[in-house]
Amino acid sequence: MFKINRLNPIANVGLDMLTDNYELVESLKDADAAIVRSANVHELELPSSLKAIARAGAGVNNIPLDKCAEKGIVVFNTPGANANGVKEIVLAGMILASRDLIGGVNWVNSVKEEPEVAKLVEKNKAKFVGTEIKGKKLGVIGLGAIGVLVANMAIKLEMDVYGYDPFISVGAAWKLSKYIKPSKSLEEIYRECDFITVHVPLTDSTKGMFNQEAFALMKDGVKILNFSRDTLVNDGDMIDALKSGKVGKYVTDFPNPDVVGHEGVIAIPHLGASTNESEDNCAVMAVVQLMDYLENGNIRNS
Ligand code: MLT
Repeated sequence: MFKINRLNPIANVGLDMLTDNYELVESLKDADAAIVRSANVHELELPSSLKAIARAGAGVNNIPLDKCAEKGIVVFNTPGANANGVKEIVLAGMILASRDLIGGVNWVNSVKEEPEVAKLVEKNKAKFVGTEIKGKKLGVIGLGAIGVLVANMAIKLEMDVYGYDPFISVGAAWKLSKYIKPSKSLEEIYRECDFITVHVPLTDSTKGMFNQEAFALMKDGVKILNFSRDTLVNDGDMIDALKSGKVGKYVTDFPNPDVVGHEGVIAIPHLGASTNESEDNCAVMAVVQLMDYLENGNIRNS
């Protein structure tokens, strides 16, 4: 019997797949494996019984990979399982950055008790005029499972899409989508694009990549979308860039206190993968991988 500890709740459709060989336990102590979503595993004592950790999500920055490697603990993630959910929220982010829907909705709520709201609407709607995304240049940084879906969606929306990924060749990027303009450098994305969306893991080389130096290369009023990890962006430099008008809007899935409430910031409480479909897909992929490893020693994606 294998003992599994859930460090976060995951969708039942995944848990229901566990066969009679498995027991869900309340504590990590003595567990054979753990399933985690966003809990910070860096802070936890990893028992010698632990053989595997499955992350129901793509990013693994909440897991101490070096420590796991030293202890022989295999770490799995579920790349692609929530990519469609993230793709769709990036679309929402681009629309929110272009159309003042939040301002409009807040205004409607503020006048809902007034008589003759229709007349007020006629007088006030000019305040909420936006722009369209068709024909605008979108830079997609990171052409993994999510980046490619975002790029293809944007192409269908008639955006002009640039893609950059340091880990794939320009030729491979062309094969991913014949319509993405593969950029040879980040600099090209920074100089050309009206919207920039980032889909890279958090590593020593990507941490703080959106900083003063990067902003200096960008177009005035650029709209930045961050549905990857908060510390890819230097928050202090972002605030300066928003104040100067260099950045027009910052849509972030990470409500850091330094940016929340600042003019031009649309902060969302890490909802990128929070759809029923993505949660189900991640739970199933995490559980299938764990069972295959524990029972057969197969490592599908670590
Ligand atoms: C991921 O890493 O897959 C996303 O940030 C979503 C999540 O962590 O839930």
